[in-house]
Amino acid sequence: MRKTILITGGAGFIGSHVVRRFVKNYPEYNILNLDALTYAGNLENLIDIEKSLNYKFIKGDITDEVVVEKVFNDFPIDGVIHLAAESHVDRSISDPMAFIKTNILGTVVLLNAAKQHWKGNFEGKLFYHISTDEVYGSLGDEGLFTEETAYDPRSPYSASKASSDHLVRAYHHTYGLPVVISNCSNNYGPNHFPEKFIPLAINNIKNGKPIPVYGKGENVRDWLYVEDHAAAIDLIFHKGEPGDTYNIGGNNEWKNIDLIKLLCTIMDTKLNRATGESEKLITYVKDRAGHDLRYAIDSTKLQKELGWTPSLQFEEGLTKTVDWYLSNQKWLDDIVSGNYQQYYNEQYQNR
Ligand code: NAD
Ligand code: TYD
Repeated sequence: MRKTILITGGAGFIGSHVVRRFVKNYPEYNILNLDALTYAGNLENLIDIEKSLNYKFIKGDITDEVVVEKVFNDFPIDGVIHLAAESHVDRSISDPMAFIKTNILGTVVLLNAAKQHWKGNFEGKLFYHISTDEVYGSLGDEGLFTEETAYDPRSPYSASKASSDHLVRAYHHTYGLPVVISNCSNNYGPNHFPEKFIPLAINNIKNGKPIPVYGKGENVRDWLYVEDHAAAIDLIFHKGEPGDTYNIGGNNEWKNIDLIKLLCTIMDTKLNRATGESEKLITYVKDRAGHDLRYAIDSTKLQKELGWTPSLQFEEGLTKTVDWYLSNQKWLDDIVSGNYQQYYNEQYQNR
């Protein structure tokens, strides 16, 4: 029997890399991609695999019970890999409700459908929930988030993801639903929507526009190349222990300002600019409200138990990312020519 895997949010940044990996590596699986195509969803991300025989796209909203019920009725779903979410912290500050709806309500709609359709017969079934390190809160200069770190979310985005994590675990403990959760650090790479720091900076540097750095640029993030995250998801989906949590991280901490300076150096070379030219675009702007100081992940459990390691060094990954954006001008232009301009003006005009 072929396995049928439902991937939610597969038209987004990370989801598209997960869909591609599963479609290509597992021709014996049927891969369904359920995505509402919000501003962040883009089928262009999947153009290379959209005609694959083992792939089907379904446009639909995970908060809509009728839609989700129909998907579970129409297809014999064995596994769910749940990535659909509102994902940008700044948007969660200006419009929390969209995050509550999709991230919390949408997750419960999916959990209910899995619970009802699997009817207590959980053999070969798995509900895999993709979460973030931001649920653990903010670190000082020392320490790392482990799977035992207490939750302390501090933005509407991280609070909505923490809520969904709790609900996924509650369905495991209460109903026996086989679930697994992973909490990953900041991803970067191709297809990243240019509201996020790295692709926004690449776009602005290319166009000679100011690079907005929040506060003093001292905040620290742990960056992981998106394909390494997709590889970890593949491994955890197949080998993870039901009921368990796995932290995924790049062991790659960067202060925002240092990251941007490295990016500027790479861009100077790629754009044949004089060394130091792009750095002149760095502009310190008003800080994000409640800006978490530092995230850093301890991924020892995943490395020891399942044998995962990140494959790329940061400079190599960042160079690959820049190359992708410079050679996918149409992808970027299509996005920044739409509603993006209005979003950008609203976010940045008073900073
Ligand atoms: P993204 O914003 O790029 O993509 C989200 C996708 O979900 C889009 O295709 C969008 O159309 C879809 N979507 C949104 N609301 C929906 C709804 N109601 N119904 C159906 N589809 C909907 O996000 P991303 O960066 O790819 O993140 C994917 C997942 O990984 C999220 O759950 C996020 O919390 C998690 N995560 C992201 C990062 C990161 O650095 N980007 C790190 C750790 C975890
Ligand atoms: P972001 O890509 O939004 O990811 P997250 O907030 O989920 O970590 O931001 C990464 C870091 O970059 C974060 O510390 C906020 C900062 N940042 C800026 O300095 N300027 C910007 O324009 C953006 C979008 C983010």
